[in-house]
Amino acid sequence: MTEHCTIVDHPLVQHKLTLMRDKGTSTSEFRRLLQEIALLLAYEVTRDLPLGTARIETPLEPMDAPKLEGKKLALISILRAGNGLLDGVLQLIPSARVGFVGLYRDEETLEPVEYYFKVPENLEERMVIAVDPMLATGNSSAAAIDMLKKAGAKDIRFLCLLAAPEGVKRMKEAHPDVPIVTAAVDSHLNEKGYIVPGLGDAGDRLFGTK
Ligand code: URA
Repeated sequence: MTEHCTIVDHPLVQHKLTLMRDKGTSTSEFRRLLQEIALLLAYEVTRDLPLGTARIETPLEPMDAPKLEGKKLALISILRAGNGLLDGVLQLIPSARVGFVGLYRDEETLEPVEYYFKVPENLEERMVIAVDPMLATGNSSAAAIDMLKKAGAKDIRFLCLLAAPEGVKRMKEAHPDVPIVTAAVDSHLNEKGYIVPGLGDAGDRLFGTK
């Protein structure tokens, strides 16, 4: 991947995103749409998976057909909203290993603090796809990527549904080697750190909490 931030402007993605943004969309519908979009975004983020060939026989004749070379994958969900994207990506790549990163924001320092970290072994050999629907300030995303790099990850991509320009900038400065794939980059962050126009709190809408 070369572009730092790729916007997947496919009509199906954009249509589903509009339904997700609508405040009238129910929790079950929101969850289903996130899974469907995740599948389409996963297609884009894995576009450069290495291909080899395999000798096979079709009913008509033998051929050397394209086949994944078997690069190992790790999907890392940034808790908790990351789990909504994770489900969709796993539908496309069911054999991927899965890890979880949990961070909360310290009310005094405003810095992200780790509360959970469990990732597959041999991260250095894997294509690592970190998933979190909302790239807002970028602080927790950048911290999560720091943790993955410390654990050995070298080939990391960041998959989100919506990004704010502030978050994209923060990630580009902190991790220029980590490409971002998203469905849209919105206008700005508001004073509470919400993406505008955005879709509200992705975790709350996904899990039906408030
Ligand atoms: N996290 C969310 O869930 N929504 C935002 O708008 C920003 C961060």
